[in-house]
Amino acid sequence: MKASQNRVNFGSKIGAILAAAGSAVGLGNIWRFPYETGNNGGAAFILIYLACVIIMGLPIMMSEFVIGRHSRANTAGAYRVLAPGSPWRFIGYMGVLAGFLILSYYSVVAGWTLEYTLQAGIGGFSGMKAEDFATSFIAFSQNPWKPMLWMVVFLVLTHAVIVMGVKKGIEKSAKIMMPMLFILILVLVCCSLSLPGADKGLKFLLQPDFSKVTPGVFLSAMGQAFFSLSLGLGCLSTYASYFNKETNLGKTALSVGCIDTCVAIMAGIIIFPAAFSVGISPDAGPSLLFITLPNVFQLAFGDIPLLAYIFSLMFYILLALAALTSTISMHEVVTAFVHEEWHVSRNRAANYVTLGCILLGILSSLSFGVLSHFLIGGMTFFDFLDALTSKVMLPLGGMLIALFTGWYLNRQIVWEEISNGGRLKVPYFKCYLLVVKYFAPIAIGLIFINELGVL
Ligand code: PHE
Repeated sequence: MKASQNRVNFGSKIGAILAAAGSAVGLGNIWRFPYETGNNGGAAFILIYLACVIIMGLPIMMSEFVIGRHSRANTAGAYRVLAPGSPWRFIGYMGVLAGFLILSYYSVVAGWTLEYTLQAGIGGFSGMKAEDFATSFIAFSQNPWKPMLWMVVFLVLTHAVIVMGVKKGIEKSAKIMMPMLFILILVLVCCSLSLPGADKGLKFLLQPDFSKVTPGVFLSAMGQAFFSLSLGLGCLSTYASYFNKETNLGKTALSVGCIDTCVAIMAGIIIFPAAFSVGISPDAGPSLLFITLPNVFQLAFGDIPLLAYIFSLMFYILLALAALTSTISMHEVVTAFVHEEWHVSRNRAANYVTLGCILLGILSSLSFGVLSHFLIGGMTFFDFLDALTSKVMLPLGGMLIALFTGWYLNRQIVWEEISNGGRLKVPYFKCYLLVVKYFAPIAIGLIFINELGVL
């Protein structure tokens, strides 16, 4: 029997949506989106980001779904099945590499969330002021051992879920964690908006200032869209290989895109009012979340320390869980590849991936402290991996995926996947094709060229 025939499926439609949304919603929304918005001038960046999600994100996500569900294989295997012997398979190899690289540095920040969960749990934040949070974050992230150990713990947790498998591990964890995360985010939005001076933060988030838009802003917004939607590396195509025949690909893409965007915007609404109300600059970079947020709880519930305690603890647990549903998906891309293409058992494949990521992750972790002077192209190792993957590999992968489904893949296959064999009405089919054939690849190409300063 072919491997694809006894391949497992997600058990339900909602399970499939939540697993994909679990991959998309993560540190990219709650940690990266706010600091990218801060670094790139605020509301104008968000508008360009939204345009990228609509023009490129959703159609490319559908393409990944088509590729994954039709081939029922890992991201590199998919091209072997759909385009045997052709160079298209390099899209898959690049995706696996991108997944591996992202997992290695993402786990560093994911590890930070565990330290903050512990601190919140032992009541370590009580009575701290804005400046204390800044100094303690710097001391922690520069420490050579602690963040590294947390990164290892995080990768081991990810490993444990992967080893449990697709249904019991990936689907079940997403079904429990995603709704919890959503409710908590809503509560936090209310807390943050009630802070004095919150309106300044909201203005920053909602009033576009187009004078701040440079070519780099376009590239950052596009990179953020791909990163946040988990696109361009075959992560969602790997998940789609576990979708059953009834899953409506268009609807699933729309749901995932909406959930992901809502969470990102809400994270902005939580963080900016909070940052402005205590005078922290919105372009504080990667530390923004870890400095402003613990402070929000102290400020919002200063009079009722128990509430401050409960909310900070819940928030960091959920942040860690959101990160976990994303690291699981990156790990799965690489594990499914090693398992199916190199013909080793799933457990052994997972061991290789976890070990490799720990080794590479150590460099990223140390780049906040002892290796902070080791620069590649002016960037620390961590920043370099982030820029290389999100600004180059993911958009390039996305462009090639769009071209593959638009120009190479048999039109009938694309139609059958999107309409579930003709059972669904797909009034937007022509529009989808137009976008993946022309709009999305041209838009990505223009942003690349623009960044090179040629336009
Ligand atoms: N989308 C995830 C997030 O927002 C990150 C991610 C990127 C996950 C690429 C999988 C693949 O945190």
